[in-house]
Amino acid sequence: MVEQRFEIVKKQPRIYVAGHRGMVGSAIVRALQRQGHVDVITRTHAELDLTNQTSVEAFFAKAKPDQVYLAAAKVGGIHANDIYPADFIYQNLMMEANVIQAAFSNGVRKLLFLGSSCIYPKHAAQPMSEEALLTSPLEPTNEPYAIAKIAGIKLCESYNRQYGESHGVDYRSIMPTNLYGPGDNYHHKNSHVIPALIRRFHDAKVAKASSVTIWGSGTPWRDFLYVDDMAEASVVVMHLEKAVYETHTLPMRSHLNAGYGRDITIADLAGEVGKAVGYNCQILFDSSKPDGAARKLMDSSRLNKLGWNPKTGLSEGLSRAYADFLTNPPLD
Ligand SMILES: NC(=O)c1ccc[n+]([C@@H]2O[C@H](COP(=O)([O-])OP(=O)(O)OC[C@H]3O[C@@H](n4cnc5c(N)ncnc54)[C@H](OP(=O)(O)O)[C@@H]3O)[C@@H](O)[C@H]2O)c1
Repeated sequence: MVEQRFEIVKKQPRIYVAGHRGMVGSAIVRALQRQGHVDVITRTHAELDLTNQTSVEAFFAKAKPDQVYLAAAKVGGIHANDIYPADFIYQNLMMEANVIQAAFSNGVRKLLFLGSSCIYPKHAAQPMSEEALLTSPLEPTNEPYAIAKIAGIKLCESYNRQYGESHGVDYRSIMPTNLYGPGDNYHHKNSHVIPALIRRFHDAKVAKASSVTIWGSGTPWRDFLYVDDMAEASVVVMHLEKAVYETHTLPMRSHLNAGYGRDITIADLAGEVGKAVGYNCQILFDSSKPDGAARKLMDSSRLNKLGWNPKTGLSEGLSRAYADFLTNPPLD
Protein backbone atom coordinates (compact mmCIF):
# COMPACT_ATOMS: atom_id res chain seq x y z
CA MET A 1 0.00 0.00 0.00
CA VAL A 2 1.35 3.41 -0.97
CA GLU A 3 1.12 5.91 1.80
CA GLN A 4 -0.03 9.25 0.51
CA ARG A 5 1.22 12.37 2.19
CA PHE A 6 -0.59 15.64 1.78
CA GLU A 7 1.15 18.85 2.59
CA ILE A 8 -1.13 21.63 3.71
CA VAL A 9 0.11 24.79 2.04
CA LYS A 10 -1.08 27.83 3.94
CA LYS A 11 -2.46 30.36 1.49
CA GLN A 12 -0.98 33.83 1.86
CA PRO A 13 -3.53 36.57 2.50
CA ARG A 14 -4.23 38.98 -0.34
CA ILE A 15 -3.42 42.37 1.14
CA TYR A 16 -4.60 45.76 -0.13
CA VAL A 17 -2.47 48.71 0.97
CA ALA A 18 -4.42 51.92 0.34
CA GLY A 19 -2.09 54.91 -0.13
CA HIS A 20 0.97 52.85 -1.15
CA ARG A 21 2.70 55.81 -2.79
CA GLY A 22 2.58 57.85 0.42
CA MET A 23 5.31 57.89 3.04
CA VAL A 24 3.50 55.49 5.38
CA GLY A 25 1.82 53.27 2.77
CA SER A 26 5.12 52.70 0.96
CA ALA A 27 6.81 51.75 4.26
CA ILE A 28 3.98 49.28 4.99
CA VAL A 29 4.51 47.67 1.56
CA ARG A 30 8.26 47.38 2.35
CA ALA A 31 7.48 45.82 5.75
CA LEU A 32 5.09 43.29 4.21
CA GLN A 33 7.61 42.39 1.50
CA ARG A 34 10.32 41.91 4.14
CA GLN A 35 7.98 39.42 5.80
CA GLY A 36 7.60 37.52 2.54
CA HIS A 37 4.13 38.70 1.54
CA VAL A 38 3.88 38.56 -2.23
CA ASP A 39 0.16 39.08 -2.77
CA VAL A 40 0.03 42.82 -2.10
CA ILE A 41 -2.49 44.83 -4.13
CA THR A 42 -2.09 48.55 -4.75
CA ARG A 43 -3.85 51.26 -6.76
CA THR A 44 -2.67 54.79 -7.40
CA HIS A 45 -4.96 57.74 -6.69
CA ALA A 46 -5.37 58.18 -10.46
CA GLU A 47 -6.46 54.53 -10.83
CA LEU A 48 -8.83 54.58 -7.86
CA ASP A 49 -10.22 57.69 -6.19
CA LEU A 50 -11.11 56.48 -2.71
CA THR A 51 -13.60 59.33 -2.21
CA ASN A 52 -15.74 57.75 -4.96
CA GLN A 53 -18.02 55.14 -3.37
CA THR A 54 -18.98 53.39 -6.63
CA SER A 55 -15.36 52.98 -7.73
CA VAL A 56 -14.26 51.71 -4.32
CA GLU A 57 -17.08 49.16 -4.18
CA ALA A 58 -16.26 47.95 -7.72
CA PHE A 59 -12.56 47.65 -6.87
CA PHE A 60 -13.20 45.53 -3.76
CA ALA A 61 -15.70 43.32 -5.59
CA LYS A 62 -13.10 42.57 -8.26
CA ALA A 63 -9.83 42.52 -6.28
CA LYS A 64 -11.28 40.58 -3.30
CA PRO A 65 -8.58 41.36 -0.73
CA ASP A 66 -8.42 39.44 2.57
CA GLN A 67 -6.79 42.25 4.54
CA VAL A 68 -6.62 46.03 4.23
CA TYR A 69 -4.14 48.62 5.52
CA LEU A 70 -5.85 52.02 5.21
CA ALA A 71 -2.92 54.45 4.86
CA ALA A 72 -4.51 56.72 2.25
CA ALA A 73 -5.52 60.12 3.56
CA LYS A 74 -5.49 63.81 2.78
CA VAL A 75 -2.54 64.90 4.90
CA GLY A 76 -0.93 68.30 5.48
CA GLY A 77 0.66 70.70 7.94
CA ILE A 78 -0.91 73.57 9.93
CA HIS A 79 -0.97 75.89 6.91
CA ALA A 80 -2.88 73.46 4.65
CA ASN A 81 -5.27 72.44 7.44
CA ASP A 82 -6.03 76.10 8.05
CA ILE A 83 -6.72 76.98 4.40
CA TYR A 84 -8.51 73.80 3.26
CA PRO A 85 -10.59 72.58 6.27
CA ALA A 86 -13.46 71.40 4.05
CA ASP A 87 -11.12 69.26 1.91
CA PHE A 88 -9.54 67.71 5.02
CA ILE A 89 -12.79 66.68 6.70
CA TYR A 90 -14.72 65.71 3.55
CA GLN A 91 -12.02 63.69 1.77
CA ASN A 92 -10.89 61.83 4.87
CA LEU A 93 -14.42 60.95 5.96
CA MET A 94 -15.29 59.73 2.47
CA MET A 95 -12.14 57.61 2.08
CA GLU A 96 -12.62 55.93 5.46
CA ALA A 97 -16.35 55.33 5.06
CA ASN A 98 -15.98 54.00 1.51
CA VAL A 99 -13.05 51.69 2.23
CA ILE A 100 -14.41 50.32 5.51
CA GLN A 101 -17.92 49.69 4.15
CA ALA A 102 -16.61 48.15 0.90
CA ALA A 103 -14.21 45.96 2.92
CA PHE A 104 -17.10 44.76 5.07
CA SER A 105 -19.50 44.13 2.19
CA ASN A 106 -16.81 42.12 0.37
CA GLY A 107 -15.97 39.86 3.29
CA VAL A 108 -12.73 41.48 4.54
CA ARG A 109 -12.26 40.42 8.14
CA LYS A 110 -9.03 42.21 8.96
CA LEU A 111 -8.42 45.92 8.43
CA LEU A 112 -6.01 48.39 10.00
CA PHE A 113 -6.95 52.06 10.05
CA LEU A 114 -4.20 54.66 10.43
CA GLY A 115 -4.94 57.79 12.42
CA SER A 116 -2.69 60.33 14.06
CA SER A 117 -1.83 61.92 17.42
CA CYS A 118 -3.97 64.95 16.52
CA ILE A 119 -7.03 62.96 17.65
CA TYR A 120 -6.10 63.84 21.23
CA PRO A 121 -7.36 66.97 23.01
CA LYS A 122 -5.33 70.16 22.92
CA HIS A 123 -4.71 69.99 26.68
CA ALA A 124 -4.37 66.22 27.04
CA ALA A 125 -2.22 65.09 29.98
CA GLN A 126 1.32 64.14 28.86
CA PRO A 127 2.34 61.60 27.79
CA MET A 128 -0.93 61.07 25.90
CA SER A 129 -2.45 57.66 26.49
CA GLU A 130 -5.28 56.05 24.54
CA GLU A 131 -7.74 57.02 27.32
CA ALA A 132 -7.31 60.73 26.49
CA LEU A 133 -9.53 60.39 23.40
CA LEU A 134 -12.70 62.55 23.52
CA THR A 135 -12.02 63.89 27.02
CA SER A 136 -11.86 67.62 26.09
CA PRO A 137 -11.72 69.99 23.05
CA LEU A 138 -9.29 69.45 20.18
CA GLU A 139 -6.68 71.85 18.82
CA PRO A 140 -8.83 74.15 16.60
CA THR A 141 -6.36 74.37 13.66
CA ASN A 142 -6.66 70.71 12.73
CA GLU A 143 -10.04 69.94 14.29
CA PRO A 144 -11.72 68.96 10.95
CA TYR A 145 -8.91 66.48 10.17
CA ALA A 146 -8.92 65.14 13.73
CA ILE A 147 -12.70 64.67 13.72
CA ALA A 148 -12.40 62.64 10.50
CA LYS A 149 -9.67 60.49 12.08
CA ILE A 150 -11.77 59.94 15.22
CA ALA A 151 -14.66 58.94 12.94
CA GLY A 152 -12.35 56.33 11.34
CA ILE A 153 -11.66 54.75 14.75
CA LYS A 154 -15.37 54.81 15.56
CA LEU A 155 -16.24 53.25 12.19
CA CYS A 156 -13.90 50.33 12.95
CA GLU A 157 -15.31 49.93 16.45
CA SER A 158 -18.91 50.09 15.27
CA TYR A 159 -18.40 47.44 12.57
CA ASN A 160 -16.67 45.24 15.16
CA ARG A 161 -19.51 45.69 17.62
CA GLN A 162 -22.24 45.04 15.06
CA TYR A 163 -20.56 42.40 12.89
CA GLY A 164 -17.72 40.99 15.02
CA GLU A 165 -19.65 37.95 16.20
CA SER A 166 -21.80 37.35 13.13
CA HIS A 167 -19.22 38.03 10.37
CA GLY A 168 -15.85 37.70 12.12
CA VAL A 169 -15.07 41.39 11.50
CA ASP A 170 -11.87 42.50 13.27
CA TYR A 171 -11.00 46.10 12.37
CA ARG A 172 -8.20 47.80 14.32
CA SER A 173 -6.67 51.28 14.57
CA ILE A 174 -3.18 52.58 15.18
CA MET A 175 -2.29 56.19 16.05
CA PRO A 176 1.27 57.17 15.16
CA THR A 177 3.11 60.21 16.44
CA ASN A 178 5.01 62.56 14.05
CA LEU A 179 6.68 60.44 11.38
CA TYR A 180 9.64 61.03 9.11
CA GLY A 181 11.74 59.07 6.65
CA PRO A 182 11.88 58.02 2.99
CA GLY A 183 9.04 59.39 0.86
CA ASP A 184 8.37 62.40 3.10
CA ASN A 185 6.81 65.58 1.71
CA TYR A 186 9.40 68.38 1.34
CA HIS A 187 7.03 71.01 -0.05
CA HIS A 188 8.38 74.45 0.93
CA LYS A 189 5.05 75.58 2.48
CA ASN A 190 3.17 72.42 3.21
CA SER A 191 5.54 70.06 5.04
CA HIS A 192 5.95 68.80 8.61
CA VAL A 193 8.79 69.93 10.87
CA ILE A 194 11.53 67.37 10.02
CA PRO A 195 11.24 67.55 6.20
CA ALA A 196 11.01 71.37 6.48
CA LEU A 197 14.23 71.46 8.55
CA ILE A 198 16.03 69.04 6.21
CA ARG A 199 15.17 71.26 3.27
CA ARG A 200 16.23 74.46 5.05
CA PHE A 201 19.58 73.04 6.19
CA HIS A 202 20.20 71.55 2.76
CA ASP A 203 19.42 74.88 1.03
CA ALA A 204 21.67 76.70 3.54
CA LYS A 205 24.49 74.21 2.83
CA VAL A 206 24.18 74.70 -0.92
CA ALA A 207 24.08 78.51 -0.54
CA LYS A 208 26.82 78.46 2.17
CA ALA A 209 24.45 80.58 4.30
CA SER A 210 25.59 81.68 7.76
CA SER A 211 22.27 80.84 9.45
CA VAL A 212 19.01 78.90 9.24
CA THR A 213 15.80 80.43 10.56
CA ILE A 214 13.18 78.14 12.02
CA TRP A 215 9.55 78.79 12.94
CA GLY A 216 8.66 79.52 16.56
CA SER A 217 10.74 79.73 19.74
CA GLY A 218 12.35 76.26 19.42
CA THR A 219 11.16 75.36 22.93
CA PRO A 220 8.24 72.95 22.23
CA TRP A 221 8.90 69.25 22.88
CA ARG A 222 7.87 66.63 20.30
CA ASP A 223 8.55 62.94 19.60
CA PHE A 224 9.44 61.62 16.15
CA LEU A 225 9.21 58.07 14.86
CA TYR A 226 11.04 56.69 11.82
CA VAL A 227 8.42 55.57 9.31
CA ASP A 228 9.74 52.01 8.84
CA ASP A 229 9.39 51.47 12.60
CA MET A 230 5.80 52.67 12.29
CA ALA A 231 5.21 50.24 9.42
CA GLU A 232 6.54 47.37 11.57
CA ALA A 233 4.15 48.49 14.33
CA SER A 234 1.26 48.37 11.84
CA VAL A 235 2.09 44.80 10.82
CA VAL A 236 2.47 43.78 14.48
CA VAL A 237 -0.96 45.23 15.36
CA MET A 238 -2.60 43.58 12.34
CA HIS A 239 -1.13 40.19 13.33
CA LEU A 240 -1.87 40.23 17.06
CA GLU A 241 -4.07 37.36 18.18
CA LYS A 242 -7.64 38.63 18.55
CA ALA A 243 -7.79 37.61 22.21
CA VAL A 244 -4.53 39.46 22.92
CA TYR A 245 -5.71 42.61 21.11
CA GLU A 246 -8.96 42.51 23.02
CA THR A 247 -7.16 42.12 26.35
CA HIS A 248 -5.30 45.40 25.76
CA THR A 249 -8.19 47.40 24.25
CA LEU A 250 -11.91 47.94 24.81
CA PRO A 251 -14.72 47.69 22.27
CA MET A 252 -15.08 51.50 22.42
CA ARG A 253 -11.39 52.33 23.03
CA SER A 254 -9.81 50.06 20.51
CA HIS A 255 -6.95 52.19 19.12
CA LEU A 256 -3.27 51.75 19.99
CA ASN A 257 -0.61 54.47 20.07
CA ALA A 258 2.76 54.18 18.30
CA GLY A 259 5.36 56.72 19.41
CA TYR A 260 9.14 56.91 19.78
CA GLY A 261 8.96 57.07 23.57
CA ARG A 262 11.26 60.05 24.04
CA ASP A 263 10.85 63.67 23.00
CA ILE A 264 13.22 66.45 22.03
CA THR A 265 12.92 70.26 21.78
CA ILE A 266 12.58 71.73 18.30
CA ALA A 267 15.83 73.65 18.90
CA ASP A 268 17.75 70.42 19.67
CA LEU A 269 16.04 68.71 16.74
CA ALA A 270 17.31 71.49 14.45
CA GLY A 271 20.84 70.80 15.74
CA GLU A 272 20.41 67.08 14.95
CA VAL A 273 19.13 67.83 11.44
CA GLY A 274 22.14 70.13 10.89
CA LYS A 275 24.44 67.22 11.83
CA ALA A 276 22.59 64.80 9.50
CA VAL A 277 22.84 67.28 6.62
CA GLY A 278 26.46 68.00 7.49
CA TYR A 279 26.07 71.73 7.87
CA ASN A 280 26.87 73.63 11.02
CA CYS A 281 25.55 77.18 11.09
CA GLN A 282 23.76 79.58 13.38
CA ILE A 283 20.13 78.67 14.15
CA LEU A 284 17.76 81.65 14.44
CA PHE A 285 14.22 81.43 15.86
CA ASP A 286 11.32 83.38 14.36
CA SER A 287 9.21 83.80 17.50
CA SER A 288 6.51 85.67 15.59
CA LYS A 289 5.44 82.26 14.21
CA PRO A 290 3.19 79.98 16.34
CA ASP A 291 4.70 77.28 18.57
CA GLY A 292 1.67 75.02 19.04
CA ALA A 293 1.42 72.99 22.26
CA ALA A 294 4.38 73.17 24.66
CA ARG A 295 4.64 69.38 24.75
CA LYS A 296 3.11 66.49 22.81
CA LEU A 297 4.37 63.04 23.67
CA MET A 298 2.67 59.76 22.87
CA ASP A 299 2.36 57.06 25.50
CA SER A 300 2.96 53.80 23.60
CA SER A 301 3.33 51.59 26.65
CA ARG A 302 0.43 49.36 25.55
CA LEU A 303 2.03 48.56 22.20
CA ASN A 304 5.44 48.18 23.86
CA LYS A 305 3.97 45.54 26.19
CA LEU A 306 2.55 43.79 23.12
CA GLY A 307 6.08 43.34 21.76
CA TRP A 308 6.77 46.37 19.55
CA ASN A 309 9.55 48.88 20.15
CA PRO A 310 11.13 51.35 17.70
CA LYS A 311 14.56 50.29 16.38
CA THR A 312 15.79 53.45 14.64
CA GLY A 313 17.41 56.20 16.72
CA LEU A 314 16.85 59.83 15.74
CA SER A 315 20.32 60.53 14.33
CA GLU A 316 20.34 57.32 12.27
CA GLY A 317 16.79 58.01 11.04
CA LEU A 318 17.65 61.60 10.09
CA SER A 319 20.73 60.46 8.14
CA ARG A 320 18.62 57.97 6.21
CA ALA A 321 15.93 60.58 5.58
CA TYR A 322 18.54 63.02 4.23
CA ALA A 323 19.99 60.31 1.97
CA ASP A 324 16.48 59.79 0.59
CA PHE A 325 16.04 63.56 0.13
CA LEU A 326 19.25 63.66 -1.93
CA THR A 327 18.11 60.70 -4.05
CA ASN A 328 14.63 62.13 -4.64
CA PRO A 329 14.98 65.91 -4.41
CA PRO A 330 11.71 67.93 -4.26
CA LEU A 331 10.66 69.33 -7.62
CA ASP A 332 8.82 72.43 -6.34
N1 LIG B 1 3.27 61.86 7.99
C1 LIG B 1 3.14 61.86 9.30
O1 LIG B 1 3.93 62.47 10.04
C2 LIG B 1 2.00 61.12 9.93
C3 LIG B 1 1.92 61.14 11.33
C4 LIG B 1 0.89 60.47 11.94
C5 LIG B 1 -0.05 59.80 11.18
N2 LIG B 1 0.05 59.77 9.84
C6 LIG B 1 -1.02 59.06 9.11
O2 LIG B 1 -0.52 58.15 8.16
C7 LIG B 1 -1.39 58.10 7.03
C8 LIG B 1 -0.59 58.31 5.76
O3 LIG B 1 0.14 59.51 5.87
P1 LIG B 1 1.37 59.84 4.89
O4 LIG B 1 2.27 60.74 5.63
O5 LIG B 1 1.88 58.59 4.28
O6 LIG B 1 0.62 60.72 3.79
P2 LIG B 1 1.02 60.92 2.26
O7 LIG B 1 2.48 60.72 2.06
O8 LIG B 1 0.41 62.21 1.84
O9 LIG B 1 0.26 59.73 1.52
C9 LIG B 1 -1.12 59.68 1.46
C10 LIG B 1 -1.50 58.78 0.31
O10 LIG B 1 -2.92 58.74 0.20
C11 LIG B 1 -3.25 58.89 -1.19
N3 LIG B 1 -4.55 59.53 -1.36
C12 LIG B 1 -4.95 60.74 -0.92
N4 LIG B 1 -6.20 61.00 -1.33
C13 LIG B 1 -6.60 59.92 -2.06
C14 LIG B 1 -7.79 59.58 -2.75
N5 LIG B 1 -8.85 60.42 -2.76
N6 LIG B 1 -7.84 58.40 -3.40
C15 LIG B 1 -6.78 57.55 -3.40
N7 LIG B 1 -5.63 57.80 -2.74
C16 LIG B 1 -5.54 58.98 -2.09
C17 LIG B 1 -2.16 59.78 -1.73
O11 LIG B 1 -2.09 59.68 -3.14
P3 LIG B 1 -1.75 61.02 -3.97
O12 LIG B 1 -0.49 61.56 -3.39
O13 LIG B 1 -1.61 60.51 -5.35
O14 LIG B 1 -2.92 61.93 -3.76
C18 LIG B 1 -0.93 59.23 -1.02
O15 LIG B 1 -0.43 58.11 -1.71
C19 LIG B 1 -2.47 59.16 7.27
O16 LIG B 1 -3.62 58.55 7.76
C20 LIG B 1 -1.88 60.03 8.34
O17 LIG B 1 -2.86 60.58 9.18
C21 LIG B 1 1.06 60.41 9.18
